[in-house]
Amino acid sequence: MRKPIIAGNWKMNNTASEGVALVKAIAPLVKDANCDVVVCVPAIDIPAVSEALKGTNIALGAQNVHFAEKGAFTGEISAAMLKEYGVRYVIIGHSERRQYFGETDETVNKRTLAALAAGLTPIVCIGESLEERETGKTEAVLEKQIREGLKGIDDIAKIVVAYEPVWAIGTGRTATAQQANETIGFIRKTIADMFCPKCAEALRIQYGGSMNAGNCKELMAMPEIDGGLIGGASLKAPDFAAIVNYDK
Ligand code: PGA
Repeated sequence: MRKPIIAGNWKMNNTASEGVALVKAIAPLVKDANCDVVVCVPAIDIPAVSEALKGTNIALGAQNVHFAEKGAFTGEISAAMLKEYGVRYVIIGHSERRQYFGETDETVNKRTLAALAAGLTPIVCIGESLEERETGKTEAVLEKQIREGLKGIDDIAKIVVAYEPVWAIGTGRTATAQQANETIGFIRKTIADMFCPKCAEALRIQYGGSMNAGNCKELMAMPEIDGGLIGGASLKAPDFAAIVNYDK
């Protein structure tokens, strides 16, 4: 069936040397993992962390990618630049990028298509705000993010979707396992309808938002949840390893 995938999202944490120390601490703790293990690191950490990950079962991810191949886009990074350092995954449309950096469903879609064309695996983030959940708009918001952000993708199973309710990110307030399972079920149904039921069955959908060593087992036991996108708890080797080893 779907192989679970646990990805760390370091956000703007760890200099290159701190990042190298962290992955060196994580690697021996996760070497027998049954899931795919990814660390999504700040762009400038990529060369050093890429080197440090050689010979491990941890894949390297970035936190964003531009949609153009090259050109006058000051401050941006292309898929080819990431690929040269062995980057395999890239987070796209994280709620912090939507909230602070003007990311929209349209730019999410462009970045996702460009990443796929370059052979990177996009981890596309979607999720509703607290106000949207409390006013009953969760499904409408997610459906729009899916229909606009994922349009034009040939093989939907080549991406990973991360369902991250904005109110659960960095707040210590996790969605209950049932809430997350139910919402991810809705996401899968929408994708089945937009693409095909078989493709939706093959697509991996992570939960993200205050997932930690204490709640990962319960979340991962849910049939719709295929992994986690981990922020805060990915910055400490034992905590991240405990999540990766949720099944042990
Ligand atoms: P958190 O972040 O685990 O710190 O809540 C998750 C994310 O933003 O990807």
